[in-house]
Formats: sequence, C-alpha cells, structure tokens
Amino acid sequence: MSLSTLLARRLLFTVGKGGVGRTTVTLALALEAARQGKRVLVIELEGARGLERAYRALAHGRESSRLLGRISYLAVDGKAALEEYLVMIIPVRRLLQTIFDSAVYQYFVAAAPGLKELMTVGKIWFEADRSGSGAEDAPDIVLVDGPATGHSLQYLRMPQAAFEAFPVGLVHREAERVLGLLRDPVATAIVVVSTAEEMPVNETLEIFGGLEGLGLSVGTLVVNQVHDAPCARAPLDLLGGDVGRAGDAPDDILFDEAVRRAREEAGWAGINDVQIGRLQEAVRAPLARLPYLFCEEFGGDHLATLAGVLRAELGREGP
Ligand SMILES: Nc1ncnc2c1ncn2[C@@H]1O[C@H](COP(=O)(O)OP(=O)(O)OP(=O)(O)O)[C@@H](O)[C@H]1O
Ligand SMILES: [Mg+2]
Repeated sequence: MSLSTLLARRLLFTVGKGGVGRTTVTLALALEAARQGKRVLVIELEGARGLERAYRALAHGRESSRLLGRISYLAVDGKAALEEYLVMIIPVRRLLQTIFDSAVYQYFVAAAPGLKELMTVGKIWFEADRSGSGAEDAPDIVLVDGPATGHSLQYLRMPQAAFEAFPVGLVHREAERVLGLLRDPVATAIVVVSTAEEMPVNETLEIFGGLEGLGLSVGTLVVNQVHDAPCARAPLDLLGGDVGRAGDAPDDILFDEAVRRAREEAGWAGINDVQIGRLQEAVRAPLARLPYLFCEEFGGDHLATLAGVLRAELGREGP
C-alpha cells in the first residue's frame, strides 16, 4: 500500500508499545496528509498530552509550520463525549442539567465498565464520519494517536463488546455503525508502530494477533528508530580493543569516542536487522522503516524529515 493509498482513508488509528514513537508517526503522517492538501484532524485520548506538546512544536519547524494551518488538534475525553452525545439526543436543557448533576449519573459514568472507552470511540467515529460528508469544516482524514497497546485494544474492542452486550436498541445500533467504519478497510486502517528490539517486537506480534481477532486491518507497520551501521563491523574491530586509555591526547580521545559510538551504532544496527527479520517473517502488512534521528531537540523539521522517509519507503504513487 502506498502512502497516498493509506492517507486516502478517513480514519487512521496508531497503535504500539509505550515509547516506540506512536505520537511521532501520527504527526509525520499528518504532515504528509497536509502536504497533499488534505485537512487533517489529529486526536489524542483521555489525559494524554504528548501529542498536544508535539503538535505545538510543529509551529517551530520550517516546513511543518507552513502545513500547520491544515492540521487541527482535538483531545477526546470519554465523559465529555458522553455529555456531548446526550446533548444531541436529549434536547431539553433543564432535564439534561438534572441528569448531569445527579449522583446516579456521576456514579454510572465512573463505574460502568467500558462506557468511557465506548463514548471515546463514538466521538472518533463522529469526526471520521464527518470527514466523509464533504462538509466545509470537516477534516479529510482523522488520525488518532492511540494509547499504549493494551489500552488501545480496549478502545478498539469496545464497539464489538457493546454490539454483543446490547442485542437491540440505541446502543446496539450506534455500536454497529462504529464497527462498520472500523472494519471497513477502505475507510479505516490501523498503523502499528514498533521499534526493532526484542521486547517491542514481541508486543507488536501480539498486537497483530489482537487486531486480527477484532477483524481490523493493518495499513502499515512502521518500524521506528532504526539505526544504520556507519560502516561494516570488521574495520571497526581492526581498530583494536584499546580505545579509551587514560592519558590520551585530546585528538585521541575524540577518535576513541568516535570509534566507540560507531561500534555502538553497528551493534544496534545488527539488533535492528535481526528484529526486522522477525517482523517480516510474521507480518504481511507493508513495512516502512524510519531512521533514528540524532538531535538535541526533536521538532517539526524532524517530523517533516520522517514524513519524507515514509513517502520513500511506501512508494511514490499519488501526488
Ligand atoms: N525516529 C526517531 N529518531 C529519534 N528520536 C525519536 C524518533 N521517533 C521518536 N523519537 C523520540 O522518542 C521519544 C518517544 O517518541 P513518541 O513520543 O513519539 O513515542 P510514543 O510511542 O508516542 O510514546 P508514549 O507511549 O509516551 O506516548 C520522543 O522523545 C521522540 O521525540
Ligand atoms: Mg505518545
């Protein structure tokens, strides 16, 4: 699947282990969609603020600041989404206020299992559904920066659970509509993000199993923070094991440090190769590699660089 085909979807949901780069990949995809002229809505869920921080940093990059006008940010909170939904279906204000203020309602929201997750997915559905409506202020694509693995799967599982738990009625019908969107491979794709290290790869393979069980299709597997060997290992080894001797001249210390870092990079590149091999063997989805970018502060320009790599990795079809 080319990047343009992926971005032709109305809804992309980024899933992956904590810290692998879900937020980074979500925003790199957002920049690419914006570069293609799309209006983009990026969403993060329940109390997470990583996307908001990174989104604000887009203003400081040369290319990203140019594209920022097409990208908007939304934090979705289950309780607020429920209240918004009730406002839509119960037009009587006084009655609503009474419901919201009641202890029973507060208890229900706090205790009903999965309710907040269900409402959150419902709100995402609402935004993604608008994106197909062609309305002037509607986004063309919605990108959700999902929480870490288990929690993301919990969100994605909720419509199916509600659909089964309520065999008839409003919740059943709403859940069916949400499921219809999530399971439509033309409208929705999951973007799985991993790093090429053993534990994240183990978890990524579990994610694929979980998504398959939910009938959800993976658009792309993005392997982030891939290290590149600066040169073959053999010449580095020829330099001997005596780097870092005390009392070296400053030039030697610098040289030693460079050799040490080169060996470290070669080591990581080797690990990354092995783990990418594991992923390629087990996973059929298209795979894109993003390099580890060395920088003091990761910002909009780095995200734009990663967007360019995604373009190259996933083929250049489209605009
Ligand atoms: N390709 C990369 N090269 C260098 N640094 C990166 C790269 N991708 C992500 N990072 C950095 O790694 C850190 C984690 O990335 P990010 O916040 O995108 O991960 P996450 O999966 O969203 O994490 P969390 O689970 O905390 O939400 C950030 O500081 C980010 O700037
Ligand atoms: Mg994040």
